[in-house]
Amino acid sequence: MSAAKKKYKKITTKSLVEMKSNGEKISMLTAYDYTMAKIIDHAGIDMILVGDSASNVMAGHETTLPITLDQMIYHASSVIRAVDRCLVVVDLPFGTYQGNSRKALASAIRIMKESGGHSVKLEGGEEISESISRILTAGIPVMGHLGLTPQSIYKFGTYTVRAKEEEEAEKLKKDAKLLESLGCFALVLEKVPSKLAKEVADSLSIPVIGIGAGDGVDGQVLVTHDMFGMTHEFSPRFLRRYLDLYTDMGNAVKSYISDVKSKDFPSKKEQY
Ligand code: KIV
Repeated sequence: MSAAKKKYKKITTKSLVEMKSNGEKISMLTAYDYTMAKIIDHAGIDMILVGDSASNVMAGHETTLPITLDQMIYHASSVIRAVDRCLVVVDLPFGTYQGNSRKALASAIRIMKESGGHSVKLEGGEEISESISRILTAGIPVMGHLGLTPQSIYKFGTYTVRAKEEEEAEKLKKDAKLLESLGCFALVLEKVPSKLAKEVADSLSIPVIGIGAGDGVDGQVLVTHDMFGMTHEFSPRFLRRYLDLYTDMGNAVKSYISDVKSKDFPSKKEQY
C-alpha cells in the first residue's frame, strides 16, 4: 500500500486541501461503471470523476450535451457501489443548472440522494455563481470547471486551448478567485496554457486539478478510456497512454473468434 493510501483512509474535501498544502499531487480519473471504478479505487486513486464525458465514451455522442440527469445518476450510482476510499465527483449535465439556481439545487440534490455521490461539478464562472452558491447552501461540495468547458462547445466552436489571449486569461483568473470565494472545494482547469494554470493554482488555497493544463497545478485528471488506450481517434498532446487496450482487446476478440470457429473453445476442461 502506498504512503498516501495509508495516510488517508478515506479521501475527503479536507484531505485534498491538506494534500495541496503539503505539496502532494492529487490523482483523479473518470469512471462510469462499477467494474472500472473498483479497479481504479482499489489501485489508490484520490478522486473519481463521473464525468459527462460518459456521453462521448459510453454512449458515442459527439458532444457532452445529450446526456441526461437520469443517465448521470445511473452511472454515478454504479461507481459509488464500487468505491471504498476515493472521493467521487459527479458532473451536473448540460441544462440542469444554467440560468436557474433552484433547478441547479434540485439537480444536485437528486445526484446526492439517488446516486450517493460525494460532490458535484459544474462548468463555468461568474455566469453560474448563483447556482453554485445555492447548491453550497445545501451542504453539497462543489467542484468548479474553467478553461475549456465542453458543455459550451457550440459557443467556442472548437476544442482548442483556451485563454491564450489576455482578455480571456484575465476572466479565467477572476472566475477562479470567485469560485474559491463562493466555497468550491476544488477546481478543474481544462486545456489552458501551463503558465496561466500555475499562476491560478498558486493564487488559490483550494486544489486545482488540470487536464491539459501542465505541471504547475495541484493534480491531474484524465479520461480513463483515453489513458488506457481504449479510444483510438483522440490524441491530444496532453494525453499519456498507459496501455494500448484498443489493440489488445481487439486481438483478444480475434483470438476468441478464431477459437470458436475452429472449435478449440470450449475445451473438454471448460465444460460441465
Ligand atoms: O467529463 C469529463 O470527463 C471531464 C473531464 C475532462 C475533466 O469533465
